[in-house]
Amino acid sequence: MAGEYFTYKGVLFPCHDYTPEALSYVENEFQVRDDDVFNVTYPKSGTNWMLEILSLIRCEGDPGWVRSVPNWERAPWVEHKVGLEAALKYPPPRLLCSHLPVQLFPKSLQRSEAKIIYTLRCPKDVLVSLYHFSHILRFVKDPGSLDSFLEDFLSGNVTYGSWFDHVIGWMGLKDNKNFFSITYEELQQDLPGSVRRICRFLGKELSEEQVAAVAENASFQSMKGNKMSNYSQLSDKYIDHEKGQFLRKGICGDWRNHLSETQSQRFDTVYQEQMQRLGMTFPWD
Ligand code: A3P
Repeated sequence: MAGEYFTYKGVLFPCHDYTPEALSYVENEFQVRDDDVFNVTYPKSGTNWMLEILSLIRCEGDPGWVRSVPNWERAPWVEHKVGLEAALKYPPPRLLCSHLPVQLFPKSLQRSEAKIIYTLRCPKDVLVSLYHFSHILRFVKDPGSLDSFLEDFLSGNVTYGSWFDHVIGWMGLKDNKNFFSITYEELQQDLPGSVRRICRFLGKELSEEQVAAVAENASFQSMKGNKMSNYSQLSDKYIDHEKGQFLRKGICGDWRNHLSETQSQRFDTVYQEQMQRLGMTFPWD
């Protein structure tokens, strides 16, 4: 099954971890609760970083939980075969993750007060991070050359579909009081300030010491050294640990080290065409 895919409502998913039945269940039957907090991203946008921040906020900066429970158990992925089972058993209030585009997200969100935190990242860095990640993940097809992967990415022929559709779809909720968006670049620029903004959105009051503890324990170095957050415990069935690490570089602008001028211009052309639909600017524009 490794490297095999199916499409669900036009979006690509690897057969290894997803089924059309589970995706349909999540979309149509999964019951979102008012006290749910969802960490939503397009892949490689800082999902696990935000998961760590949210886990630490929940514990008021105490690193006990993040050092003793693997991140995928702290906040299961609802659309995964395994994550869905964990989400259904999770005692409320739940912390959940999802990479689903908005049109495939549980419909029951519309009738709930659940909070969505949507993290976005410079799409050229997403592309580069995803390219490297695709080499170490066992159940996805070989990404091929960067040139061909770039075309797959720009046309949405990758797991979870088009970055543009994902961002434009979710940012359609930006005026909703239960929706909060932040960029990977803002987290990099000012992590304690970002933590304070997230706390305000969640209605969680932390002291300055607790905010500092969240930022310290969610730093790249702390996460890299924490086996509950760095995926070193994930079975070799999923990740080829010899080929690379999940926490790869953790920087902004790494695309400059990988994309040629021609590839970058090609990206910009499609970006400008696609993003006209949204009419918003981001730190990387
Ligand atoms: P790179 O491959 O560019 O290093 P996701 O969690 O959505 O899969 O995103 C993974 C990306 O986020 C990887 O990017 C990873 O290194 C980066 N990342 C994870 N934790 C981070 C942290 N604490 N600080 C900065 N970047 C982090």
